[in-house]
Amino acid sequence: MTPDDAKRLAAERACDLVQSGMKLGLGTGSTAALFVAELGRRKLDIVGVPTSEATRRQAEALGIRLATLEEEPQLDLTIDGADEIDPALNLIKGGGGALLREKLVAAASSRMVVIADASKRVAQLGQFPLPIEVVPFGIETTRRRLAKCLDLLELEAEMRLRTAADGSPFRTDGGNVILDLPLGEIPDPYGLAAALKSVLGVVDHGLFVAMASLALIGGPEGVIEMSGS
Ligand code: A5P
Repeated sequence: MTPDDAKRLAAERACDLVQSGMKLGLGTGSTAALFVAELGRRKLDIVGVPTSEATRRQAEALGIRLATLEEEPQLDLTIDGADEIDPALNLIKGGGGALLREKLVAAASSRMVVIADASKRVAQLGQFPLPIEVVPFGIETTRRRLAKCLDLLELEAEMRLRTAADGSPFRTDGGNVILDLPLGEIPDPYGLAAALKSVLGVVDHGLFVAMASLALIGGPEGVIEMSGS
């Protein structure tokens, strides 16, 4: 089974959770794209709020009814992928750069369900570089404040400014830039999440703590359900 087959299994199972009339958050990334494709095939009567311009374009092309988060500020369910999932269902997200809208949409939803293949399951978060969305203005000063913040928490990471294919700084849908932090391990996701939010210049970060209530993991044995520990 290829990783894409595993992702597709999880995406199809997630579609079974969708009922007509629901207001749905539509995630971003390759796994979420498989979910959106299946949603389009099933032609369910839902309203979707996309978490990125890429997802908006895909859903629009499939004829899925869309709204903005301003128009629909309370959603029933968000289905999204993740870069890492720990046993308590804390996540690293933002590998695709959509972390801010993903978090806003998930936070506006009664329920967030994560879909992934088994490679995303980890015992502890941190192997995947943690994306931090920062405002471009004064980025060097933000970097220094971030370095101090990590120092206080006795964490180390060489911050890397994410670049686009042409070598220019990658821009998020909100026009910000991303610093990727290869931390290796994150022993206290709650503490780090709170500390990063307090750094001036940081818009948000890819730690999603206590947001997901279920993860659907596709693999050769079918779909495993993780509900946190
Ligand atoms: C997008 O910004 C991310 O949060 C994605 O949800 C995450 O990177 C997972 O993407 P894949 O499904 O492509 O692995």
